[in-house]
Amino acid sequence: MKKIPVIMDVDTGIDDAVALILAMSSPQIDLKGVTVVAGNQILEKTLYNTLSVVDYFGSGNIPVAKGASKPLVRDLYFDAATHGESGLGTAQLPPPQIKPHHLDAVDFIRETLENSQEKITLVPVGPLTNIALLLMCYPHVKDKIDKIVMMGGGAFEGNMNAVCEFNLFVDPEAAQVVFDSGVEIVMCGLDITMKSYTTMEDILRIKATGTAAGEFCAEAFGVYYDRYVNNSRLPGCAVHDAVAVTYLLHPEWITSKRANVKVDIEGTETLGQTVCDFRENRIKALDNATVCLDIDREKFIDLLVNACKSCK
Ligand code: BDR
Ligand code: CA
Repeated sequence: MKKIPVIMDVDTGIDDAVALILAMSSPQIDLKGVTVVAGNQILEKTLYNTLSVVDYFGSGNIPVAKGASKPLVRDLYFDAATHGESGLGTAQLPPPQIKPHHLDAVDFIRETLENSQEKITLVPVGPLTNIALLLMCYPHVKDKIDKIVMMGGGAFEGNMNAVCEFNLFVDPEAAQVVFDSGVEIVMCGLDITMKSYTTMEDILRIKATGTAAGEFCAEAFGVYYDRYVNNSRLPGCAVHDAVAVTYLLHPEWITSKRANVKVDIEGTETLGQTVCDFRENRIKALDNATVCLDIDREKFIDLLVNACKSCK
């Protein structure tokens, strides 16, 4: 089987951790490395969480590189209310034995792309700061990027306000750089990820796998689940970031539409909105993204359960 070469960029984060477990447990994915950005928590915590998850659940030597501690031009806004003080809810892992890579995130991605014989897919599931810095500092590596499959944005809804999603809210300028870069983008925004919710019944299935990964995910989902059920219209918690990894593995489970997507960085009420032009009479040659809109939720949950089963 031909593996898909991937670099993930994360702000770990509960759903980032699940996305990492899904990627690391899949025989179809060749995870070349993981880069880290501030977002769900401050960089010190997202880095620690990423090192812990990769060390504990990864098999082999997956490099983890430290990236940006703040957005391109704004102060960092982080989300302890959803992901907890540590960033992983009440879940705990042993202290990581691995250390961050000697290169920072941007240089790690550049070097990995430059040295690769084949194109690599980037999978950012946090604010797009590291990826924007890469594309601005080293535009020559664009040719080595197969596509960017990202979690963020939304065509028809926001979660920070009516129109803006968290990762775009944290660093809208970075998102604009990425969407305007000319690199092909697959946007797994709230339109699809809010359909990827995990009910209590699903969480109990994950826990019943009896593996360390199943126990870890079920524990991490605790406060995160409560927050979703109490504060959103969902009957469970959305596992946003795992949807981007699912796109790599099973695009056939996902409904999408081509669009021209622009990021608003100026609006007073629409800052960070991903404005998706789906009009039939748009200039289709300008389309820069595949916008994912729906997913077969049952299959997605089965995938998560099986990932936990096959993991440590
Ligand atoms: C996104 O924001 C974070 O809370 C999650 O990790 C996800 O990447 C969802 O809006
Ligand atoms: Ca995330």
